[in-house]
Amino acid sequence: MATATGRSSKMWLTLLFISTQKSVMSLNPPWIRIFTGDKVILTCHGNNSLQENSTKWFHNGIISKVTTSHWDIVSATIQDSGKYICQNQGFYKSKPVYLEVMKDWLLLQTSADTVLDNESFDIRCYGWKNWSVHKVIYYKNDLAFKYFYESPIISIRNAKLNDSGAYHCTGYLRRLNYTSEKFRITVIRVYKSKYHWLQLIIPLLVVILFAVDTGLLVSTKKQFKLVLKIQKTGKCNKP
Ligand SMILES: *[C@@H]1O[C@H](CO)[C@@H](O)[C@H](O)[C@H]1NC(C)=O
Ligand SMILES: *[C@@H]1O[C@H](CO)[C@@H](O)[C@H](O)[C@H]1NC(C)=O
Ligand SMILES: *[C@@H]1O[C@H](CO)[C@@H](O)[C@H](O)[C@H]1NC(C)=O
Ligand SMILES: *[C@@H]1O[C@H](CO)[C@@H](O)[C@H](O)[C@H]1NC(C)=O
Ligand SMILES: *[C@@H]1O[C@H](CO)[C@@H](O)[C@H](O)[C@H]1NC(C)=O
Ligand SMILES: *[C@@H]1O[C@H](CO)[C@@H](O)[C@H](O)[C@H]1NC(C)=O
Repeated sequence: MATATGRSSKMWLTLLFISTQKSVMSLNPPWIRIFTGDKVILTCHGNNSLQENSTKWFHNGIISKVTTSHWDIVSATIQDSGKYICQNQGFYKSKPVYLEVMKDWLLLQTSADTVLDNESFDIRCYGWKNWSVHKVIYYKNDLAFKYFYESPIISIRNAKLNDSGAYHCTGYLRRLNYTSEKFRITVIRVYKSKYHWLQLIIPLLVVILFAVDTGLLVSTKKQFKLVLKIQKTGKCNKP
């Protein structure tokens, strides 16, 4: 019995060491806001060489039938909107990705809704049915900050906290000037040192727990033997 428990503790320990990495989801094209009828491929990164069809996908909290490392949305519908999480075998669940599928004349597309300080994100003014957009103006918190005759992608590299804000665009689609909805993008600061400290402390705690667990088992075994001995001697004392 003691060896069985010991083995399961060891297995638990190895599992914990293997799976300290998170799965990472990416989108191609990278936009988390799309029109109905658009195509997007969600890919779950982790160790994909391990086993085929071993990826779990969750859409709005419900596990999906999709088990491949990529989820192809060929022609998006409003129902495809919502929260996506993926998990590769031996890895933690990914951070959620919130996909928004809509119908409108103009859409402020973005590659992320939340960006870490010093990371990058892209935005684009996108026209319904991929119609070309002209005389595009990009706004942040209602202040125009960029004008383009045609709508190329704006890349915001090394995002700062003050790049947070409500973004939108205006532009001409078939000779009419349209305005997109506003979309809030937030740049957050993460204290990496704290994270590293946690990464070290958790396996350490597990090792300590494991040691304590093993120690307890040994001492329980000893106590058990002692009880047996006492019982035996007790029996012997009886006539
Ligand atoms: C993925 O799995 C293979 C085979 O088990 C291993 O050799 C490789 O190091 C793993 N890669 C990562 C990133 O875990
Ligand atoms: C993985 O899933 C795909 C599609 O469902 C299927 O064609 C393929 O045979 C599966 N592979 C394995 C190893 O089960
Ligand atoms: C931001 O990223 C650049 C490289 O992309 C790096 O040189 C710089 O040290 C980073 N700054 C901070 C505060 O992390
Ligand atoms: C959208 O239009 C651009 C040029 O107008 C083209 O390069 C691109 O391939 C089109 N995208 C799709 C999904 O049709
Ligand atoms: C945004 O913040 C950075 C430092 O984090 C500063 O260099 C830059 O001037 C600020 N930009 C504006 C528009 O305030
Ligand atoms: C399009 O309309 C918006 C808001 O009505 C306006 O601010 C913008 O200047 C117009 N664009 C052009 C190129 O005139």
